[in-house]
Amino acid sequence: MANITSVKAIQILDSRGLPTVSCRVETDDGLSAVSKVPSGASTGEREALELRDGGNEYLGKGVLKAVKNINTKLADVLIGMDARNQFEIDQALIDLDGTPAKKNLGANAILAASIATLRSGAKSAKLPLYEHVNNLYCSKFKANKQLSLPVPMLNIINGGEHANNNIDIQEFMVMPIGAQSFNECMQWAIEIYGALKSLLASKGLSTAVGDEGGFAPDLKSNQEAIELILKSIEDCGLEAGKDIVLALDCAASEFFKDGKYVLKGENKSLDSNDFVDYLKSLVSSYPIRSIEDGMDENDFDGWSMLTNELGNSIQIVGDDLFVTNVKDLQHGIDKSLANSILIKLNQIGTVGETLEAINLASQNNYSAVISHRSGETEDNTIADICVGVSAGQIKTGAPCRSDRTSKYNRLLWIESDLGNSVSYANELFL
Ligand code: PGA
Ligand code: ZN
Repeated sequence: MANITSVKAIQILDSRGLPTVSCRVETDDGLSAVSKVPSGASTGEREALELRDGGNEYLGKGVLKAVKNINTKLADVLIGMDARNQFEIDQALIDLDGTPAKKNLGANAILAASIATLRSGAKSAKLPLYEHVNNLYCSKFKANKQLSLPVPMLNIINGGEHANNNIDIQEFMVMPIGAQSFNECMQWAIEIYGALKSLLASKGLSTAVGDEGGFAPDLKSNQEAIELILKSIEDCGLEAGKDIVLALDCAASEFFKDGKYVLKGENKSLDSNDFVDYLKSLVSSYPIRSIEDGMDENDFDGWSMLTNELGNSIQIVGDDLFVTNVKDLQHGIDKSLANSILIKLNQIGTVGETLEAINLASQNNYSAVISHRSGETEDNTIADICVGVSAGQIKTGAPCRSDRTSKYNRLLWIESDLGNSVSYANELFL
């Protein structure tokens, strides 16, 4: 028994203080579950539609149309369906919308219902959410994925669209690859984060945080941000390149203007060739193991140049490039544009399509990094998805702000519950 008896949505608030959609699904076994959907700022052009009301109320960002769509059209379709049949549910939602970018009903409406169903299905199946995800994934794709805890990518300096400072690169992240457990990763991350805070304060720099909980000081250059992080790692008695490696998300589409990569903070305007060289020089000077959105989402030649130059030594992650869409990912695989995909559920709009993108990546030796959005909520579903599909990596901000720590905290619980029966994915990087 797990037939859906009620689907109800309301408008709630996200971590930026903007409206977002929350949905509750109830089943005839008396159980229920709630979802809350995130929202991006540096969104990709090819992402599914986030339906906003416009007008003056809520700064034009209201989601009452999306809420109404759930309470009427989506509820009509979902009531009576079995919440454990995620792929069937998602297909029904995709069919109801009828457009590739979910323009009729809104990807935020569809995703709210899809995640609430996933959580509700797990409860009805009497399984931890990560196990329900693992069962869905393995049976759909005839895969044999063991559960694993991810290596986190913690974004401790915020720039770009996520902060009111002059840093062009959006995210400077640490990955504690030398830790022996997820718990140890978080201990090291917290120590580095604290050391960085003291270091910034000692230099008279701001210790206020950006949208993802990382510090957002004004600095002279991207290199300065990296140097500060390296110093903080050292101050904790850890070794950069061994215990901790660095990851960047350039979010380059945001500073690609008229065919040039414009680094305002450094007064540089570079063509694709020169920007690839710029990134290469960062990688040769610093222990950077992963670069996300190093190039603009439509600069395919730039992407293949970057992957050609650096793809054998580091991870090249497509976020705006792939938007969690199997069509865009297949294009990237065919043209060797990258070697990794960032996974964000709201870029595509259903759990099922998200799992399909992860599976396509896995079949083609692309890594998959499960990700939050810059606008988040306390919903921590991505933690369970990451463990359930054994993605090996999660990016969910600094170890600060409840919208970010809710995912890390969920992973700490999962590691504690599973103990030695689960591996920690650091061998990916060693
Ligand atoms: P966004 O940022 O949620 O604002 O898109 C995250 C990212 O670019 O990875
Ligand atoms: Zn990104």
